[in-house]
Amino acid sequence: MTPTPRHFLNTQDWSRPDLDALLAQAAAFKRDKLGDQLRGRAIALVFFNPSMRTRTSFELGAFQLGGHAVVLQPGKDAWPIEFDLGTVMDGDAEEHVAEVAQVLGRYADLIGVRAFPKFVDWSVDREDRVLKAFAKYSPVPVINMETITHPCQELAHVLALQEHFGTSDLRGRKFVLTWTYHPKPLNTAVANSALTIATRMGMDVTLLCPTPEYVLDERYMDWARTNVAESGGSLAVTHDIDSAYAGADVVYAKSWGALPYFGNWAPEKPIRDQYRHFIVDERKMALTNDGVFSHCLPLRRNIKATDAVMDSPRCIAINEAGNRLHVQKAIMATLAGH
Ligand code: CP
Repeated sequence: MTPTPRHFLNTQDWSRPDLDALLAQAAAFKRDKLGDQLRGRAIALVFFNPSMRTRTSFELGAFQLGGHAVVLQPGKDAWPIEFDLGTVMDGDAEEHVAEVAQVLGRYADLIGVRAFPKFVDWSVDREDRVLKAFAKYSPVPVINMETITHPCQELAHVLALQEHFGTSDLRGRKFVLTWTYHPKPLNTAVANSALTIATRMGMDVTLLCPTPEYVLDERYMDWARTNVAESGGSLAVTHDIDSAYAGADVVYAKSWGALPYFGNWAPEKPIRDQYRHFIVDERKMALTNDGVFSHCLPLRRNIKATDAVMDSPRCIAINEAGNRLHVQKAIMATLAGH
């Protein structure tokens, strides 16, 4: 019988020692970039949404380990896919994920999936159906390249913090996850992920957002509460900007849409428009404990963070983005058996 493949769908599914091992291997790949862990092997990268960093770093990471990456964009350069079972497929979809995942698993040794929420019904989006369907049908390990969480980004961020602070132990650092304005309602994935990994690492986490409607899904708030109970960190939610920034060691910014408005965004926009002042700027950063700033990128300058913050030596977003290459090589090598 074929063993069940081990997937990388969320960091919460992985033990702390296994995450630490991934981070150590990523640091080793950063020092010595070439390897043969994927020699003769391939990863199929399935993108339902655009990407710059994720696509580039997975493709080049596979190449640097002796492997090959194939990029597929269903509905663009590959057939549109159906996900529901029992559907009479008389719409746009030409094939079902049951076949797609099994066939890709005959060609490739790993499958990466990027599938953002549809932003219509959060109760549906929060089930992460696309990622789970690939994981269900794939005979090879599946990697989450951002769905409703972004675990690769989490590890890249942690590696950047460990490098900045010069230690793998991040306990006791004040970590502020701040909502920022954006003209459109965005995915909560990176925010869910930042909350998850910062609490996992034992940091003292403050979630700063404009109103209670912008608090994250209860699943991720629960994960955060579980994590701080185990890691010795703490978790607070506030809508007060200055008290959140005060003494912060890390400011991590992200914009996201308020969950109660999924599918009915018109009334959310005037609310969001009232909170443009959540932008990360020099005044707010001056309240921190000489803190560092980061963001997953892409970032709209002078909307989410000012030019001065982005160009400051305290901004570690470029290093974090660079670390995507190294952590994903660690994930691919580990899932491929190295
Ligand atoms: N941070 C991130 O995932 O970037 P891309 O959307 O460009 O892949």
